[in-house]
Amino acid sequence: MPPNSWYVTTPIYYVNAEPHLGHAYSTMAADVLARHHRQRGDDVFFLTGTDEHGEPIEVAAAREGITPQALADRNAAKFEALGPTIGVSNDFFIRTSDPRHEAMVAEIMQRVYDNGWVSKGKYEGWYCPRCADFKTEREVGPGNTCPIHEIVLDWVEEENWFFQLSKFQGRLEALYEERPDLVVPDFRRNEAVSFIKGGLEDVSLSRPTLKWGLPLPWDHTQRMYVWFDALLNYVTALTFAREGEDLSARYWPADLHVMAKDILKFHAVIWPALCMAAGLEPPRRMVIHGFLLMGEKKMSKSLGNVLDPFEVIERFGADALRFYLFREVSFGQDGSISTAGFEARYENELANDYGNLASRVLAMVDRYRSGTVPEAAVDATLAEDFEGTLERFRELLDRAELTQALELVWALVRRLNRFVEETQPWVLARDEADPERLDEVLYNLVEGLRVTTLMLVPYLPATAERLLSVLAEEDRALAELGSRPGGQSVERVPPLFPKIEA
Ligand code: MSP
Repeated sequence: MPPNSWYVTTPIYYVNAEPHLGHAYSTMAADVLARHHRQRGDDVFFLTGTDEHGEPIEVAAAREGITPQALADRNAAKFEALGPTIGVSNDFFIRTSDPRHEAMVAEIMQRVYDNGWVSKGKYEGWYCPRCADFKTEREVGPGNTCPIHEIVLDWVEEENWFFQLSKFQGRLEALYEERPDLVVPDFRRNEAVSFIKGGLEDVSLSRPTLKWGLPLPWDHTQRMYVWFDALLNYVTALTFAREGEDLSARYWPADLHVMAKDILKFHAVIWPALCMAAGLEPPRRMVIHGFLLMGEKKMSKSLGNVLDPFEVIERFGADALRFYLFREVSFGQDGSISTAGFEARYENELANDYGNLASRVLAMVDRYRSGTVPEAAVDATLAEDFEGTLERFRELLDRAELTQALELVWALVRRLNRFVEETQPWVLARDEADPERLDEVLYNLVEGLRVTTLMLVPYLPATAERLLSVLAEEDRALAELGSRPGGQSVERVPPLFPKIEA
């Protein structure tokens, strides 16, 4: 059988400012799932990139007295550079100022127009220049403010082209009926469904005042509202990501769009309708996560409370950052993060629970068995606790339950630590009264370490690679306890998570 293709995306990020930890979070989440699917043998395509048109960029560039393109080039380079530093394994990085994207957007939007889903009209309402979003009445905060950016909204009255979203109400309702897991978690799906059932209005497709945007193919006096240009990246990228190759048939529809709740409406309502209008299949699924908060507030550049991911990594390393965020903040919910919380988890969980376990086990195999893993049987009590975990792990990641899946692995790591305490291999080694039991204990510990480390590959890619190489494990597929017979040579490791300087 050919491998199952699996296409995952992140939002494409605005280049009006530099990347912060919030952006890194979404990209790392998509990366965990991409790596997991590669381990399952899937043919994965993982896309991320930058959203470079629209008012937020126009305004920020004007403030600096530079062109939007110059600002886009500068910040896109920072977003692109962030990937490798946080262990992200994307297959392509799309920039919407890429002429190949622009040409495809024109082609697709012309199709939407030709299919009769566009009309002219007058827009009157509230607009947030930071979200680049026309707010419906329900979305306007007290004092006509944006609930996300806490700024006063602009009242806008202009002649626009409209995308006839209202005509897709029935089709969207049917889509959600048919596909109960189109949006996960459930409470986000319910939000999307109630937004649709509340009645859909047509949405502005163009803006006469916008300069930094793509011209409408059928009316060059108006420029495209950035969200249409942006959403289409998921489709256009496949047509030029590989020179001379069109990946669309292989990867579309996308298997998963990852994002935070701020852009739910665009993805869960407008995007499937736009796909239908363009004659494209809607995406298969999207997972909506919460916000990283600093104190009580969303981490965001405009609120000025951001952690710089480059600085965090400098201190703790990329793996520790990935681990901390998925462990600390229940994926799907909002959650506060802090340097103190980071230090505690680094110390207690990464350095002690996992790092020490690895060092101890490898040191004991070195000392008591000259570095050769004994061949022995699986310990019955340990086997009981490992039983069925791989299946549960896969199920959890199928639902993008990143925190619960990690908790499952951590329970095994803790179980292995208890196994060390219970069996006390150093006592067994003292007079070698029962060498077979010592063999068995060491074998089971190495197996446990191998099995859990394979599960940690998506979360701690660099650390897991290091440890798997020391464990002489070449395969990256998930494995059951006892699936390797022993007999391999292993080495000691220096601490995987060394003490951090204050
Ligand atoms: N350009 C649009 C998205 C277009 S997708 C076709 C956009 N860009 S953005 O730069 O504002 O990025 C928003 C996304 O960044 C969120 O949906 C989320 O994925 C991520 N995050 C930004 N700040 C975040 C937090 N504080 N916490 C969690 N995720 C955050 O919207």
